[in-house]
Amino acid sequence: MPVPAIMRGMAEGGKPAHEGRVAFVTGGGRGIGAATAKLLAREGAAVAVAARTEKEVVGVAREISASGGEALPLRLDVTDEVSVSEAFQRTREELGPADILVNNAGLPGVPLPVAATEPAGWRRVFEVNVTGAFLCAREALPQMAAGNWGRIINVSSAAARHPMAGMAAYSASKATLDQLTRVLALEGKPNNIAAICVYPGVVDTRMQEESRSFGAEVVGESLHRMFNNYRDFGVLRRPEEPAGLISYLCTQEAARLNGHIIRLEQLATLRGDK
Ligand SMILES: NC(=O)c1ccc[n+]([C@@H]2O[C@H](COP(=O)([O-])OP(=O)(O)OC[C@H]3O[C@@H](n4cnc5c(N)ncnc54)[C@H](OP(=O)(O)O)[C@@H]3O)[C@@H](O)[C@H]2O)c1
Repeated sequence: MPVPAIMRGMAEGGKPAHEGRVAFVTGGGRGIGAATAKLLAREGAAVAVAARTEKEVVGVAREISASGGEALPLRLDVTDEVSVSEAFQRTREELGPADILVNNAGLPGVPLPVAATEPAGWRRVFEVNVTGAFLCAREALPQMAAGNWGRIINVSSAAARHPMAGMAAYSASKATLDQLTRVLALEGKPNNIAAICVYPGVVDTRMQEESRSFGAEVVGESLHRMFNNYRDFGVLRRPEEPAGLISYLCTQEAARLNGHIIRLEQLATLRGDK
């Protein structure tokens, strides 16, 4: 079954923050990406909702159109440059040139010590978390430059800064994504394109579920306990919280944060919440 074409609903009054923008959200089918796609749409953007699982991207696009927004569900594998190029082309044809890119698609891989990590597993984590973001940025940048405005939000992780035994591939890939963001910030600046990284906190998504599901015999007692403690001690955040941060970072006001890495906890201060 082909992925359905653009889904349009009727927008409701007020002038939303992202009115007139076209956003491309990778990993938009669930978790942080789905919450972000829905929020950007609620705030006026037309949103390309992109990931590999058709059912999920179609479901999110339906929800957006049912509540008055505009969405284009896209089957996308961020590691495949043809798939990425086709997805951006369809977005341009059906919604217009992308001016917001949220590089959210990511995966942790199996958390193992370096000596026990298969090269294929290491490469896969880098392919999705780093090369995927590069391929999408590479497609989005010319469209953003043509409109002399753009925002690239890379969803990274505090694991980039805090080393943990067993998390080499994930941590190193996210540290690389941080540095990619800083370079994008320099390259984008002349065209009014800001690139910003997000550390979303520990969020209640499939990724955390999967991390909890690895037995202590696979990932070791310490990581097993850490993943389960996140749930058991109630520290998991709702995906809507990092989505709120991402949406804020797509506003004009947030252009000043070009090249910065922003943690979820900073949102209230940045927004000047009372
Ligand atoms: N949850 C946390 O605690 C946490 C903490 C720090 C950072 N993060 C980061 O937040 C981002 C979102 O994760 P999440 O927690 O929301 O996890 P999630 O619910 O598992 O979502 C991951 C998304 O990425 C997509 N994806 C994976 N591989 C892809 C590929 N090759 N091509 C296109 N899409 C792909 C998945 O869709 P398909 O499988 O359908 O392709 C899914 O939509 C990730 O970058 C993650 O590293 C999460």
